[in-house]
Amino acid sequence: MRNGNASPNGPVVLGLESSCDDTAAAVLQGSKILGEVVVGQGALHESFGGVVPEIAARAHAERIDLCVADALAQAEVALGDVDCIAVTAGPGLIGGVMAGVMCAKGLALAHGTPLIGVNHLAGHALTPRLTDNLAMPYLMLLVSGGHCQFLIVHAPDRFQRLGGTIDDAPGEAFDKTARLLGLAQPGGPSVEAEARQGDALRFVFPRPLLDRPGCDLSFSGLKTALMRTRDKEVAADGGLRRQTRADLCAGFQLAVCDVLVKKCARAIEQYLSLSPRVPALAVAGGVAANASIRAGLQQLCTRYDMRFVAPPLALCTDNAAMIAWAGGELYQLGYRDDMTLAARPRWPLDQNAVPLLGSGRKGAKA
Ligand code: KG4
Ligand code: ZN
Repeated sequence: MRNGNASPNGPVVLGLESSCDDTAAAVLQGSKILGEVVVGQGALHESFGGVVPEIAARAHAERIDLCVADALAQAEVALGDVDCIAVTAGPGLIGGVMAGVMCAKGLALAHGTPLIGVNHLAGHALTPRLTDNLAMPYLMLLVSGGHCQFLIVHAPDRFQRLGGTIDDAPGEAFDKTARLLGLAQPGGPSVEAEARQGDALRFVFPRPLLDRPGCDLSFSGLKTALMRTRDKEVAADGGLRRQTRADLCAGFQLAVCDVLVKKCARAIEQYLSLSPRVPALAVAGGVAANASIRAGLQQLCTRYDMRFVAPPLALCTDNAAMIAWAGGELYQLGYRDDMTLAARPRWPLDQNAVPLLGSGRKGAKA
């Protein structure tokens, strides 16, 4: 396809992602996903209780070229026909990001292909345009094990951060809660399943930062409160009763949901003051799979007469299709990188926003 003329179906973009614990490659033409591979590293890190950066980096370096070959084969596209190579250049675990950037540079140099470094968070934030052709500006909530922020997406290269977590990401809080209660990892789905059997009003957990203006969030105190309550119940009952565990999960989930929805309402008010043509809230990240949180956000959108967009989960969690898509958008805006492209552990989407404090289990959050 590469002959200097843009195809009417959009550029053919090869995307590479390796910023955390998924090694991924994808080939897109416009919004059509021609080939996609995601190789997780869950088993490699399981016994360590979190992602080990050195193990992750080595696994990415070993697998990224194989993922690229698989994605191209699925797409039936030759490297010489790729219009642009897009690679996550940060933020994330630096060894993994370097593995992806080095691979992309090698391919770009060998085939004379334009190279574009993509911000991982921009990949998440632009996904609703890939899946739902969402018009800008739209409001975005990123909620995963590594991220939590409200963003207004003004353009593929212009994001405004309204607020974010100052400590843990919500997914991390779900995972830690599961660990404290002896439930399986990842914690989100197991806590959600337990919560369905529980009484959400038996234990009332704090709603951190609700008393402060703005859209910043905090989840670490919630986890501490849960641990204290658990210890009290265990001491009183001589062990953790099944019903108590379910009630703790339900109370915890309600607190997270409540905080996210209330802070989201504030973000919506700010966003709507821009008078967007087609008001919309989009979510991305594993936590968006939670039915209560999703329902809470959906109700909020109904209240404000806004569109609610939740892309399919496989495109909400880490993947390379989102990087290829974001790269394609930047390519069309004229962006190009060269061999000086650097891997960045931190890379805030909104350069004007106050830096985030948190840097959690899965690396830097901005
Ligand atoms: O986006 P993701 O796959 O990976 C990154 O964190 O980058 O998100 C994973 C996180 C985990 O912390 C997991 O516990 C959480 O999303 N999660 C959920 C649910 N499913 C996954 N949290 C709450 N409820 C769920 N149903
Ligand atoms: Zn991510």
